[in-house]
Amino acid sequence: MPGRPEKKVSAVSASRAPYATLRGRLPDFPWDKLAPYKATAAAHPDGIVDLSVGTPVDPVPALVQRALTEAADSPGYPTVWGTAALRDAITGWAGRRLGAEGLGHENVLPVVGSKEFVAWLPTQLGLGPGDRVAYPRLAYPTYEVGARLAGAAYEAYDDPRALDPEGLRLLWLNTPSNPTGQVLPQEELARIVAWARAHGILVVSDECYLELGWEAEPVSVLHPQVSGGSFEGLLSVHSLSKRSNLAGYRAAFVLGDAALLGDLLQIRKHGGMMIPATTQAAAVAALGDDQHVEEQRRRYATRRTALRTALLAHGFRIEHSEASLYLWAGRGESCWDTVSHLADLGILVAPGDFYGPAGENFVRVALTASDERIAAAVARLT
Ligand SMILES: Cc1ncc(COP(=O)(O)O)c(C=O)c1O
Repeated sequence: MPGRPEKKVSAVSASRAPYATLRGRLPDFPWDKLAPYKATAAAHPDGIVDLSVGTPVDPVPALVQRALTEAADSPGYPTVWGTAALRDAITGWAGRRLGAEGLGHENVLPVVGSKEFVAWLPTQLGLGPGDRVAYPRLAYPTYEVGARLAGAAYEAYDDPRALDPEGLRLLWLNTPSNPTGQVLPQEELARIVAWARAHGILVVSDECYLELGWEAEPVSVLHPQVSGGSFEGLLSVHSLSKRSNLAGYRAAFVLGDAALLGDLLQIRKHGGMMIPATTQAAAVAALGDDQHVEEQRRRYATRRTALRTALLAHGFRIEHSEASLYLWAGRGESCWDTVSHLADLGILVAPGDFYGPAGENFVRVALTASDERIAAAVARLT
């Protein structure tokens, strides 16, 4: 009797199961929802003013471009820990700009942009089911993504010290905040660090907007008045994307607890997570120069004042926004109604609910557009 034809399982579909599992842990990519509004804004006769993404538009500083091209002949593999010159540049910058004292090379870990670090830290820490990760109520979505990739539980907080410490392994802080621009005061940071240490919880503070304070002076978790002079249980995350217009180069670094960074370095060596040699050389130049940061700050400050004034005149309320590259603005209506209203004026912004349900009545307005485009937005709003 002829048997039923054997059902063939292809290698591709057999290997799809674990792939689909990992993919299934992630949310839908929210930016796709903005596409129709982008089309509306782009149809404006004077063109779109895209303030939806915090991507730099001003030139890469000339001294950084020079350092990159001078390092163009880099045939060998770079190291994950980076060159000694890069580690020196990082500790020198952190002493100068963060007030962190006593940092050595063992307190430094270069990363390939801070987004990859945020997304993969829970996995690299070995977190998984039974572990909890917490992040601010309104937050950069990658904190949640990182927990999901690791299969760990995750939750948003209003006050980290009100969290149940049981099973809480990783506490994300973000000061200044994306999306709200809020800055955590030094005393509050010190209280959070003391609480986390008392419960053995790792504190990782994402400080990639630290040099972009306008109406507040952002403080690092590594400042002695917060850390108590010890880096134990603390990591501070920094990026050259915003302060030096280097988002295209992928250059960031983490500072803090030497034992933990040593473990992460080993794991990342096995994973081949190294910054290209050309970018390392560029980062050394960028970290050694404060003047271009001051120039860039001035550009953003001017744009911020112009946009802020125009939004207020248009009937917006602006909350926080004392630092960072964003204005957190609302009109007392659904963020999608605001997105739609601004798209009709040819202005694209990010809906607040991209950053958590608590943002449903706000939009995030980025300062990252040319002076000419900001002037166009201001004219349309007033
Ligand atoms: C809070 C926060 N962290 C990290 C990043 C990632 O920056 P990068 O990967 O360019 O260093 C961003 C980018 O917008 C951000 O807003």
